[in-house]
Amino acid sequence: MSELAFRDVRVAYGRGRRAQLAVDGVDLTVRTGTTHGLVGESGSGKSTLARAAVGMATVSAGTITLDGADLMRRAPARRRVQMVFQDPLAALDPRMPVGLSVAEGLLATGQRLTRADREARVRALLERVHVDPGRAGELPASFSGGQRQRITIARALAADPAVLVADEITSALDVSVQGVVLNLLRELQDELALTMLFISHNLAVVRYVSDEVSVMRAGRIVEHGPTGTVLAAPTDDYTSELLRSVPVMGRPLDLEDDLEDAVDA
Ligand SMILES: Nc1ncnc2c1ncn2[C@@H]1O[C@H](COP(=O)(O)OP(=O)(O)OP(=O)(O)O)[C@@H](O)[C@H]1O
Ligand SMILES: [Mg+2]
Repeated sequence: MSELAFRDVRVAYGRGRRAQLAVDGVDLTVRTGTTHGLVGESGSGKSTLARAAVGMATVSAGTITLDGADLMRRAPARRRVQMVFQDPLAALDPRMPVGLSVAEGLLATGQRLTRADREARVRALLERVHVDPGRAGELPASFSGGQRQRITIARALAADPAVLVADEITSALDVSVQGVVLNLLRELQDELALTMLFISHNLAVVRYVSDEVSVMRAGRIVEHGPTGTVLAAPTDDYTSELLRSVPVMGRPLDLEDDLEDAVDA
């Protein structure tokens, strides 16, 4: 079980009369073993909600729970929610061999591993994301953007998370490379029954990986349901508008072809 639940969550930036609610009473449940897509225009509060889940933004009201345990009160539970960010270059220490970055993720589990065990785990994690483990000693600069993003995913997986929060993790990548990362997520969904909150402004990408989708606007969830239902027949005007503003939505099958081509290449 690994259900991430937001209940009436509010997050404010600034204080007193200047306080602005970036997240304004959000209810959202990421069910065990499913991927929940979160879409919405720029500034609608998606990243703020994600940051709240990993303790990087202070929740001013409401609760965030993992299998019922309050994430704000129980620090050990917080490690069980791992976040992957948009820019892998910023997320990795440029002077640290990538294998060590992945090993840092292992440290978060609090397990004491021998050096040999740790190295074996790092190798397995790099293989898991299709990065050559023989390159564990190299620095981030010698990898491509897509490889770097897969390394940050390996680091997040190293912490043995119950839930992965992915905030625009393909937005900074070329379309061809996006496909590789998205297909990796699909593999992880199948093999690890991954539970994931997947944030993206690209609705075609969200459609490709999400079971359910929530649409956010001005800090609130304005629509929610199974991905197919919400994207095929939006009941909210704002969602329709959002769909219209993304031209790629007219050709979702092409995207799937692009993704397949990218993986075959
Ligand atoms: N550190 C901060 N300090 C003050 N205000 C902030 C901060 N971070 C975000 N905000 C404000 O909170 C609101 C929500 O921002 P957030 O980054 O969560 O949106 P988003 O949906 O992730 O947008 P995008 O699609 O551009 O990533 C915006 O009005 C933004 O200006
Ligand atoms: Mg954001």
